[in-house]
Amino acid sequence: MTDSPQIRFAQPEDFPAIVELGADVFTPYGCYRETILNWLNTAGIRSLVACRQESFCGAVIFGFFNEEDHFVTEVLAVEVAGAYRRTGVGRALMRAMIGHVTDISQIYPVLSLRLSTAETNHPALSLFGSLGFRPTGEDAGRYDGGQRIIRMEYGLPQTPATRAVRRFVAEQDS
Ligand SMILES: CC(C)(COP(=O)(O)OP(=O)(O)OC[C@H]1O[C@@H](n2cnc3c(N)ncnc32)[C@H](O)[C@@H]1OP(=O)(O)O)[C@@H](O)C(=O)NCCC(=O)NCCS
Repeated sequence: MTDSPQIRFAQPEDFPAIVELGADVFTPYGCYRETILNWLNTAGIRSLVACRQESFCGAVIFGFFNEEDHFVTEVLAVEVAGAYRRTGVGRALMRAMIGHVTDISQIYPVLSLRLSTAETNHPALSLFGSLGFRPTGEDAGRYDGGQRIIRMEYGLPQTPATRAVRRFVAEQDS
């Protein structure tokens, strides 16, 4: 059995490895080097890294975005280096991210946890599906590489904060 990776919040010294890996693995979908660097330096965007014996294995980047009276969380990228694939790193990163977002949603009204992936990305679709993400069915267009974009959402547990916002929104709409 392979050891669980260590997961921790990324530090600025991790950024070059995250950017290089992302620029490489997302090449089929477009040019992401600048985009990932910008994400890492944007307030409200967080990243977790996975390491084994101090070696960088991969990362997940996710952001909290303020939409009027609530937050939505978007998983912007999850990436695992080739040598560490299929050893549980992607799943460990995603689980840690979901745990963090769930903790935050106890305090702040985080109404949704969403992501995008390509319809051709079978490893990612399988990973996200196995964690409980479900396709939203919306038409989100295509990546620069031409692949159709699949939007998926994870059902965050309802908390007092999210219930209050949902009540408020329902009252405004009625
Ligand atoms: C998608 C990705 C993050 C998965 O990371 P990983 O560390 O290899 O995944 P894990 O070892 O944790 O596997 C978790 C699950 O993912 C799925 N999976 C991973 N690789 C797979 C493959 N080659 N084929 C089919 N399913 C696969 C399986 O459901 C797997 O569960 P299982 O091992 O019980 O069958 C990795 O392949 C990657 O970095 N791809 C390039 C970047 C990318 O496409 N990111 C996703 C879009 S943002």
